[in-house]
Amino acid sequence: MKGLNNWQCTMQDKGLRLTNNDQEHYFNYYWLRDNCPSSFDQQTQERIFDIAALDLPPVAQAVKINDNILQITWQDLHISQFTLDILLSWANSNQRPDPADLPRQHWLGDFYPCMARFSAEQVHTDSHAREAWAKAMIEEGVALITGMPDTDQSLPELAQLLGLIRPSVAGHVFEVRVEPNPVNLSFTSAALEMHTDTPAEEHAPGIQFLHCRANSVDGGDSLFLDGAAVATAMQEKYPADFALLTQHRVPFYYDHEQFDWRSHQKVIELDQHGAVSGVTVSQHMADWFDLPQHLLDDYYPAFVRFLRELRLPEYLCRFRLNAGECIVFDNHRIVHGRDAYASDAGHRHLRGCYIDRGELRSSYRTLVRKNAQL
Ligand code: OGA
Ligand code: ZN
Repeated sequence: MKGLNNWQCTMQDKGLRLTNNDQEHYFNYYWLRDNCPSSFDQQTQERIFDIAALDLPPVAQAVKINDNILQITWQDLHISQFTLDILLSWANSNQRPDPADLPRQHWLGDFYPCMARFSAEQVHTDSHAREAWAKAMIEEGVALITGMPDTDQSLPELAQLLGLIRPSVAGHVFEVRVEPNPVNLSFTSAALEMHTDTPAEEHAPGIQFLHCRANSVDGGDSLFLDGAAVATAMQEKYPADFALLTQHRVPFYYDHEQFDWRSHQKVIELDQHGAVSGVTVSQHMADWFDLPQHLLDDYYPAFVRFLRELRLPEYLCRFRLNAGECIVFDNHRIVHGRDAYASDAGHRHLRGCYIDRGELRSSYRTLVRKNAQL
């Protein structure tokens, strides 16, 4: 049958072949039947068709192409209509187009002046600024919000612009300041080695917010680096070490009187394209590695190599977080730490919380769609 652009459709045993002069695509019958536009509730967009309830495997009885529409008459006489545009866009990528699937932009130690900055007022009042903020978070993994009111509410109000706050070991929000009985080095004035937060949780927190309420101490500078940049460079330089760190999970723990968290994580995490999407680093929460001892002969040197790569000076971005600023960063990609500070004079207080990475991407997609309609 001939259609627009000479598309022709032929029925095969288990699916349809769609061809024109220079392209050929194949679509499985189950996939076509399951995704028939009539399978979805008009209001909720959820699938209301049950493929498992079919008596027989779905097979086409007749097909035709008219005005950019492919019509399939099934053997049970159900009719499905698809626009060729939708089928061809699937054929080319085999996935739903995703505005949040943006290429990561790696950065180095001189990044601080280029870091995306928005005032709290801007992101609260302007949905385009909110979109730009979310985009920077996906592409660069970090952004700075300025002009935060010095209130307890300003942090949750900011975080909720990008997603629901998700609790962690420390609750919905946590306070980073010197405490009399610390459960964590964060709550002392000691230096914090470069880390990602709480990998001992099964799903370590995605996006971290740290609102600086006070910082009048000597020392305590913030240290940030792009773990994806380091791991990607490592892939080039030491591919065998890189492969080990992407393949095996190692244990993390966070154990105190009131809790006992344990998990296994890959030190380098890849996305669906095989690119580095994150890293998990925390020597203070790493448990005794429980990989087979002979595997450790190779794994440990690879792990140590990665820790040393993370320490190369070209990656480290050092700056002072000032009262009224909130640093927001991808806790699976950006490795952070701080310098020690003197706790006898001045005051240092950060208030933190987390949202999931999925919340960020969901907010970004929604903002793109809504802003395009404004
Ligand atoms: C933490 C942390 C950073 C800082 O509490 O996990 O990284 O600057 N704090 O105190
Ligand atoms: Zn931290």
